[in-house]
Amino acid sequence: MSKVALVTGGMGGLGVAMCKSLAKDGYTVVTTYSGNEEKCKNFLDTTKAEGFNFKAYICDVSKYDSCIKVVAKIKAEVGAVDVLVNNAGITRDGQFKKMTKESWDAVINTNLNSLFNMTKPVLDGMLEKGFGRIINISSINGQKGQFGQVNYSAAKSGVHGFTMALAQEVAKKGITVNTIAPGYIATAMVMAVPEEVRNKIIAGIPVGRLGTPEDIAGLVSYIASDASSFMTGAEIAINGGQHTM
Ligand SMILES: NC(=O)c1ccc[n+]([C@@H]2O[C@H](COP(=O)([O-])OP(=O)(O)OC[C@H]3O[C@@H](n4cnc5c(N)ncnc54)[C@H](OP(=O)(O)O)[C@@H]3O)[C@@H](O)[C@H]2O)c1
Repeated sequence: MSKVALVTGGMGGLGVAMCKSLAKDGYTVVTTYSGNEEKCKNFLDTTKAEGFNFKAYICDVSKYDSCIKVVAKIKAEVGAVDVLVNNAGITRDGQFKKMTKESWDAVINTNLNSLFNMTKPVLDGMLEKGFGRIINISSINGQKGQFGQVNYSAAKSGVHGFTMALAQEVAKKGITVNTIAPGYIATAMVMAVPEEVRNKIIAGIPVGRLGTPEDIAGLVSYIASDASSFMTGAEIAINGGQHTM
């Protein structure tokens, strides 16, 4: 039986490429969506036409109960999760002096509390199997901070604290926990930035281009594989060399 990979937010800019890459590696891939049925149907139809067979479950990663229910449902219908990619995330940008409590809470709940909410119900099954891969998607802005993103930078920085601590707790159980910190990737969000601003961003990337979702998905596939078993508690920067600037 093939291993089960769960990618949260698998219908987003990076998530689709992660789902496809893991499916090509032979995993049964399950993803979540937060409620937009039309977007979900469109994703399932489009990927089915391309030869994929994804399963999608409604889940709000910011709510613990929702995550417990969805993991139990996936276990019953598909199997226990072997690979968890905590990928779902949002931004609510604005300078701190204007930042509302709502936008702070939304970003912390969706980008950081979601790691507790999703990992907690998945971990027992991994411990039972003696195998697991937990891959947490952070950001370059969690490593260096970003003007207008106090909430997002705090959440994404917290992601790696979670990774390092949990990695130590499960290291002898066949489970690895790692963080991927992408730089600027050519997703709809980044492509919506005015061209002039985008060009300035690209000028600050040593390789001279934005990343692609496939760049990140390839790294997810590697970390999910047996070949990565000596890598745990790591934060891998994948940003075209921007961290060296
Ligand atoms: N794009 C970049 O350049 C970049 C750079 C660094 C880091 N990242 C990180 O990479 C991850 C993916 O980013 P992306 O660019 O693919 O973003 P995206 O296109 O906006 O996709 C985000 C996904 O998260 C899901 N999501 C949001 N809130 C949710 C909730 N409460 N419950 C369940 N799912 C929820 C969305 O699902 P629904 O649409 O169904 O709500 C969507 O599928 C994020 O963690 C982001 O912070 C991205």
